[in-house]
Amino acid sequence: ENVTVVEHPLVQHKLTIMRNKDTSTASFRRLLQEIAHLLCYEVTRDLETEMIEIDTPIQKMQSPALKGKKLVFASILRAGNGLLEGMLDLVPSARVSHIGLYRDPETLEAIEYYFKAPSDIADRLVVVVDPMLATANSAVTAVDRIKRRGANNLRFLCLLAAPEGIKRFQEAHPDVPIYTAAIDEKLNEKGYIVPGLGDAGDRMYG
Ligand code: PRP
Repeated sequence: ENVTVVEHPLVQHKLTIMRNKDTSTASFRRLLQEIAHLLCYEVTRDLETEMIEIDTPIQKMQSPALKGKKLVFASILRAGNGLLEGMLDLVPSARVSHIGLYRDPETLEAIEYYFKAPSDIADRLVVVVDPMLATANSAVTAVDRIKRRGANNLRFLCLLAAPEGIKRFQEAHPDVPIYTAAIDEKLNEKGYIVPGLGDAGDRMYG
């Protein structure tokens, strides 16, 4: 129901290492970038192509190329940037939006401190990225914000999701498919994903 769990063995193996509390910051960052490649492959799997004419060194040919306007990757700061970098390795011409949100530790509400997006996002596919979908307050707020800018074709990509977050996100944005590497058990009273991997931002940046 609009949630794709990417069960590729390489994704699952790398995620296991990331969950381990003994994994260093350097390894965590690198693994997130590697997983981002694999998740990006899945989230772009059904993009439309069109035939264009090119000259090979031998002769002319019709060959497939991506159709339509360039993609937008919208990163929820800070931890979204870990996924963003890996995605840009695969789609280097993508446009980028940054959405700065932090969770109020008391209310768990997402508070905006930064927003920048390309002006012409209406006809583009926008992939919103954040490693964690916990309460979904951040993801819901980010997608609201991007939709207000005119976007109408969105996907949400994360590494780990809590069932509570998926439910809330789908209620708020039923038109936005979710891609994730895993759905964990639950949220704890502090709004952390259990068993999870801790705070992705802290594990990447300290
Ligand atoms: C974490 C995480 C998500 C958000 C998920 O960010 O990176 O953005 O919480 O939680 P939610 O689904 O309950 O909103 P945090 O607020 O710790 O900020 P940071 O990434 O800058 O560390």
